[in-house]
Amino acid sequence: MVNADIIAIDGPAASGKSTVAELLARRLGYLYLDTGVMYRAVTLAMLQKQIPVNDEAAVTNLAREIKIDVRPPSVEDQRMCDVLLDGVDVTWEIRKREVEQNVSQVSAYRGVRDAMTQQQREIGRRGKVIMVGRDIGTVVFPEAGLKIFLDASVEERAKRRAKELQERGKTIGYQEVLEDMKARDRIDSTREIAPLKPAKDAVVISSDGLTVDQVLQKILNLLNK
Ligand code: CDP
Repeated sequence: MVNADIIAIDGPAASGKSTVAELLARRLGYLYLDTGVMYRAVTLAMLQKQIPVNDEAAVTNLAREIKIDVRPPSVEDQRMCDVLLDGVDVTWEIRKREVEQNVSQVSAYRGVRDAMTQQQREIGRRGKVIMVGRDIGTVVFPEAGLKIFLDASVEERAKRRAKELQERGKTIGYQEVLEDMKARDRIDSTREIAPLKPAKDAVVISSDGLTVDQVLQKILNLLNK
């Protein structure tokens, strides 16, 4: 058995990280933390306060001031967790397109990343956690006992995300989702601080053509080695 008090799962948008991580956390009795929701919450707060996305100092101050809580789901509406921004439930609001179109720029700011990374480390130090994001294996917890980098082609990922959004009643089409996703991937992987990339010791899994269960099984096999 691999001794993995912290399991890091990184990868690009809609690669299936959250679904697999949540199932795995339930299996193992671990806490599941999706760090993407924290960057989304900062972005939503910025939009609500009408702070221009280019104002790095103001966005950074905001990231330090707001209180983000991620808790087990309290409502049965297919959410994987509750996300609270200064005590208000923003679980679905952080999924809107305007947030998605700004989040990569917000999360490229050093001060924003420092504030979020600090909170993530505090949670992780308590142990038995599966943390999902872009930089968990490389920056937040390079000492994680198991690191997975979950990938898939951008077309496959856009197809999955468009389906997800349509199921939630959104009218956005595949082409728009694909363009948004490519833009986000480009910023996430080329930023100077904590870019999206597999850690040197990460196991890269491509989820193209694999079911969620098959990906889950691959990870369980790695844990049982
Ligand atoms: O769910 P999806 O894969 O579309 O995105 P997400 O995981 O919710 O992350 C939203 C955005 O937050 C990403 O595009 C990154 O810009 C940023 N992010 C990050 O910079 N570092 C993390 N550890 C997690 C997310």
